[in-house]
Amino acid sequence: MDKFIIEGGNKLEGEVKIGGFKNAAVAILPACILASGEFKITNLPNIRDIRILCEILRELGADVDFDGSTAIIDTTNIKECVATHEMASKLRASYYLIGAGLARFNYAKASYPGGCEIGRRPIDQHIKGFEALGAKFALDHGLIEVKSDQRLKGTEIYLDVVSVGATINIMMASVMAQGTTIIENAAKEPHVVDLANFLNAMGANIIGAGTDVIKIKGVDELHACEHMVIPDQIEAGTYMIMAAASKGDVLVKNVIPIHLEPVSAKLREMGVEVHEYDDSIRVIGKDELKPVNIKTLVYPGFPTDLQQPMTVLLTRCKGNSMVTETIFENRFGHVNQLNKMGANIRVENRTAVVSGVEKLSGTKLKASDLRAGASLMIAALIAGGKSEIESIYHIERGYENILDKVKGLNGRIEKIRKVAEEV
Ligand code: EPZ
Repeated sequence: MDKFIIEGGNKLEGEVKIGGFKNAAVAILPACILASGEFKITNLPNIRDIRILCEILRELGADVDFDGSTAIIDTTNIKECVATHEMASKLRASYYLIGAGLARFNYAKASYPGGCEIGRRPIDQHIKGFEALGAKFALDHGLIEVKSDQRLKGTEIYLDVVSVGATINIMMASVMAQGTTIIENAAKEPHVVDLANFLNAMGANIIGAGTDVIKIKGVDELHACEHMVIPDQIEAGTYMIMAAASKGDVLVKNVIPIHLEPVSAKLREMGVEVHEYDDSIRVIGKDELKPVNIKTLVYPGFPTDLQQPMTVLLTRCKGNSMVTETIFENRFGHVNQLNKMGANIRVENRTAVVSGVEKLSGTKLKASDLRAGASLMIAALIAGGKSEIESIYHIERGYENILDKVKGLNGRIEKIRKVAEEV
């Protein structure tokens, strides 16, 4: 098991180029199942989740050539969607194979989705959508199976919970249904819009993506297309927070500033200098930071995926800040590790009270999930002394080339292979 060794204390300075959005890409790749032909998908992040999805598409019969940024995917030989390989169980996004397979073949089978352990992560809203369209759902020995004896029928679907995954999955399942499907209380995240744009480029007829009502007029067939994945606003926000926490000066390049509005606004509220340009944002950290309150909400509220990194920054504020996590029920896995470094954070149910401290100190740490791992990296980079972070596979599955990007910003970080313990 590899680990990161980080020597804290450097100001992060320079430029960092943001890659394609993981959470958009993990929906776009399965969506290629919806049509037969050769796709060209560009600006993909070179991370484990993408490589696993390319492998799953190959297992389904596709010809996939991924060079670390562009994927040429020929789906001509995909004749069914049965992705029961153990690989699929590693990803939360494997459930997108179900929506796409159901739409194309009226049948799909995949491993129950995995993903970060930040809550129960049910899929009841996905199932509600599939059944409303006329499909039957079964769960057997950890495998999800959906099927329909006839063409799916468009209908109105009201989501009880604003769910990114369910919105995307139902959009995919309904693109070739007979008639019109209306998704109400839909998620409005930028990657929902990115997927809708991709499906429309394939010949779908979707309007309203980005609002809470999405209308999908079923079409008979879709065709392959080319698509560039939008920049990863969560990766960008992570580096913005890293720059502010280290009191550095970083230009975060290849972003869509409006997607980062909630983060930029909060950083400014704390006293951090944030300059927005066409496709980049400059963050200049300050010595004195004001405590603020963070409440995670669906887009365009403050993103839950940046709650953990932001909590590290709040340890530098003079006074108490409140962090309320409204999306997931168990997303404070990083708090114990931060308190081990000298932070003073108290968690009550879904709220964490963060009292500012003079300094964090480096120690042995262990990443519990993707964004918790990122928050530990930020903490280690600003702490006094050396830290070791284990289980870094959590981090590397979602942050492309993070070792070189942090090194490129003057961060003192090394990656070592963990040798077997001496007996
Ligand atoms: C996506 O997860 C992202 N993952 C998550 O990012 C992100 O935190 C989340 O959206 C919210 O933005 C991917 O896109 C692969 P949800 P998803 O369905 O789709 C409840 C990261 O760090 N819910 O919007 O699973 C659910 O329990 C990851 O990149 C139901 O109750 O999130 C949660 O409380 C972590 N029933 C809330 O809705 C359902 O059927 C939001 O979940 C589905 C969800």
